[in-house]
Amino acid sequence: MTLLRSVLPLTLLVAGTTLSAQSPDPLAPTARWTAYQGGSAQLPPMGWNSWNAFLTEIDEEKLMGSAQRIVDTGLAKKGYRYINIDDGWWLKRRTSDGRLIIRADKFPSAQTDKGDPTFRPLTDRLHRMGFKAGIYSDLGRNSCSQAYSEGPAQLPEGSVAEREVGLYGHSDQDLRLFFAEWGFDAIKVDGCGIRAFAADAPRVRSGQYRALPPLIDQHSVARSNIPAVKALFADINQSLARYNPDGDYMLSLCIWGSANVRAWGKDVGNISRTSDDISPDWSRMLTNYDSAVRRAFYAHPGSWNDPDMLFIGKGDFDAAHLTEARSHFALWAMMNAPLLIGADLRTVPQSLLDIFGNGDLIAINQDAAGNQATIAFDSDDLQILVKSLANGDKAVALFNRTATPMQAVLTADHLKFSADKPIALKDMWTGDASQFSGEQAFDLEPHQTLVFRATGQRQLRDGMYVSEQPGRVNPAVDGVSYPEPDPTIHRSIPGWRGTRGVGERPLYAGWGGAMPDATPYNQPLAIAGKAFGSGVGVLANSRLEIRNEGFSRFTAQVGVDDSARDAAHTVRFTVYGDGRRLASASTRRGEAAKPIDVDVRGVAIVELVAQAPDAPGEMLPVSWGDAALRR
Ligand code: GLA
Repeated sequence: MTLLRSVLPLTLLVAGTTLSAQSPDPLAPTARWTAYQGGSAQLPPMGWNSWNAFLTEIDEEKLMGSAQRIVDTGLAKKGYRYINIDDGWWLKRRTSDGRLIIRADKFPSAQTDKGDPTFRPLTDRLHRMGFKAGIYSDLGRNSCSQAYSEGPAQLPEGSVAEREVGLYGHSDQDLRLFFAEWGFDAIKVDGCGIRAFAADAPRVRSGQYRALPPLIDQHSVARSNIPAVKALFADINQSLARYNPDGDYMLSLCIWGSANVRAWGKDVGNISRTSDDISPDWSRMLTNYDSAVRRAFYAHPGSWNDPDMLFIGKGDFDAAHLTEARSHFALWAMMNAPLLIGADLRTVPQSLLDIFGNGDLIAINQDAAGNQATIAFDSDDLQILVKSLANGDKAVALFNRTATPMQAVLTADHLKFSADKPIALKDMWTGDASQFSGEQAFDLEPHQTLVFRATGQRQLRDGMYVSEQPGRVNPAVDGVSYPEPDPTIHRSIPGWRGTRGVGERPLYAGWGGAMPDATPYNQPLAIAGKAFGSGVGVLANSRLEIRNEGFSRFTAQVGVDDSARDAAHTVRFTVYGDGRRLASASTRRGEAAKPIDVDVRGVAIVELVAQAPDAPGEMLPVSWGDAALRR
């Protein structure tokens, strides 16, 4: 624990948040965008990763085989750029100097005549092909396969110390090796090393691995040491900046939605896993999808939610299940998820390549505005997702989660388009064009997702609701003082555990986070009996940063939401423009919504602060009803 003491000198741990002695007031305006700005992920990364297809048994032929297919099939031209090596590449850490040694028997180009094995020839080759190259490591001393792998396949070899291949204690040395010496452009940093090697873990007790007191408890956010995990990532970020002077790198956080990372991953890296591993099962896909789909405010250019890699090509998503495979792809595209193919492309049939290559859906995922879709209609059976695109169109997905046929009625309201004007639709699977006004019914097959690009007349003619542009919003402080598991995430039976144990319970903290068009607890927005179809739901004691791109007014109707338990405390709503206070309003539950209308011409960052001065830790839902930026 010496490391922790040295990086956290004046820090108090309060219910998962950090209050340091000199901490500035977290609700004070900063006049800047404080989410992660390092690296290069203006758009969700696209590419290929070895894990789903090969687990640890990755080698150069398999990797280059898929890379070559990405070129040959035209997928490279469509944007698939990263070729990422996952777990299984390392042989050992040389104890004399701490250098990592590659499994050169599996990566022959790494074996040079003189000197240590190096990935430089491989990354050079990938770069010449137009790709970027990604590598894999772990926050702890050991990796996930060392914790969980059933067989010995391609696990590190040698003494206990030689098998300590993770970043812990070697972070700067390893990142220099990966980026400066070997020429990688991306790294996925896993976390099993700080979760699975407690002194009483069987593989530690048997002497196979050294103990590292866990910093993450996957089953309890309260028992996870969040500041310590963040401190490890802070070290990584320093080294990434040092060894990538051009800033062209991509940091992928892989702590599976634990330790409240669904709230802070956006402050630390470019993509961040929101759940445990996906498997090629419909039900598991739902878990991973659910873990990201309500987190639209936590994704934006530079840092994206990552519900895990695509599993198209196997199990419920193989060529015999095209409906399911298409749904998986469409949902990931709508959520601005990284599009990382997990299949062995050497053997994938054309029908699946066509899914990966759907240019219309790729364009939706890669749309410059960077707005993750939000939920316009919600149920356990059917959902309607809507995503605002840069040119003013909307992408809309009608998603049948169930194994029975369903009917979905899409309304102009779902799209925030006028009901009395025609709405044009283009089907993203068939290319068919159609038109409706008011509403239109669609029949969905079991597990089907229909996706359209929709053009219509906006209900809000002179601007955009804040909830339509989550890509411009950063919930810098979301008011969640006690992180709690989100009960809305589908609880599947993980394939690797089956029905052993007691089953999956709500696991992923983030419940109570900022929500578009809903309260933090997923209720409709309402202030003193007045319902708001648009707006931002957030807890009191929060601060939201909004990038203002050319709008001249900010308007909203604010109040404590009717769903709040507490009617005693007053909440003060303040709007700042580049750090300057523009307006305030104070109100409590039961009082009519108060209007705010301020000039934001020339303002780059609008900040929305809701403060309950007498209830600093109270998780009190407040609503920025109809919050909008106007021309
Ligand atoms: C974890 C990650 C996976 C994969 C494996 C490798 O389970 O979540 O994506 O990287 O480790 O061992």
